[in-house]
Amino acid sequence: MNLVFLGPPGAGKGTQAVEIARARGLTHISTGEILRAAIRDGTPTGLKAKQYVDKGELVPDGVVVDIVSEALAGGGSSTGWILDGFPRTLAQAKALESKTSETGVKGVEMVLYFAVPDEAVIKRLSGRRMCRACGASYHVDFMPPANDGVCDRCGGELYLRDDDKPQTVRNRLAAYREATEPLVDYYIEKGLLVEVKGDGGPETVRAAVEDILGERFC
Ligand code: AP5
Repeated sequence: MNLVFLGPPGAGKGTQAVEIARARGLTHISTGEILRAAIRDGTPTGLKAKQYVDKGELVPDGVVVDIVSEALAGGGSSTGWILDGFPRTLAQAKALESKTSETGVKGVEMVLYFAVPDEAVIKRLSGRRMCRACGASYHVDFMPPANDGVCDRCGGELYLRDDDKPQTVRNRLAAYREATEPLVDYYIEKGLLVEVKGDGGPETVRAAVEDILGERFC
């Protein structure tokens, strides 16, 4: 089961990807998480990516394609993978197709498109808190931790991502409209796209995703 989770920033891709990957034994590859780890560690990739991520712009295609190629080459689960936040441009989608066919790996089998209106996205991102230590994600209203500011999973400190501040969110939404939204038609034409109504609560969205996967993959 090789899946792509597509949708605007804050659509809930990461929240669902973590749960679905855990339940189905899939490898979860989040380009956002990999880039944040590289920035935290001050690697050459991180230093390069930081100037784009901080402004809410897309990191150049070559950088993210290399990251994903490396993650896919790393093996992971034989059951399949979820690409969360990749591809985000037409060039990335085409690079993914070339990489999978070159290496004889099965390509994308389904693209789940999380449709969420802008107002909901803005509310979700302004209230999101992430764990500095393990990267777990919470929301002050919709998915609060048991204790304010403390990660349930590892006890780490929760923080507001720099790129979740209002001006940067506006830039991210603009980048999404311009570069990523065209992928919706691209994957419709390929017969791979399935829309998930993403504006319900996390459990409702999860049930909708499981229904879709159950119908297609059993
Ligand atoms: P990335 O981290 O991928 O950011 P994003 O796509 O903008 O996605 P988010 O992580 O903001 O949102 P999400 O859809 O995962 O929502 P989440 O589940 O967390 O990328 C960051 C940056 O890295 C980019 O801006 C770019 O610079 C760079 N980058 C990454 N990939 C790249 C690529 N391929 N090419 C170029 N550059 C790239 O949920 C959000 C909040 O809502 C949380 O608080 C959550 O608790 C809450 N929530 C989730 N679901 C629900 C629900 N159903 N109801 C209520 N609340 C919910």
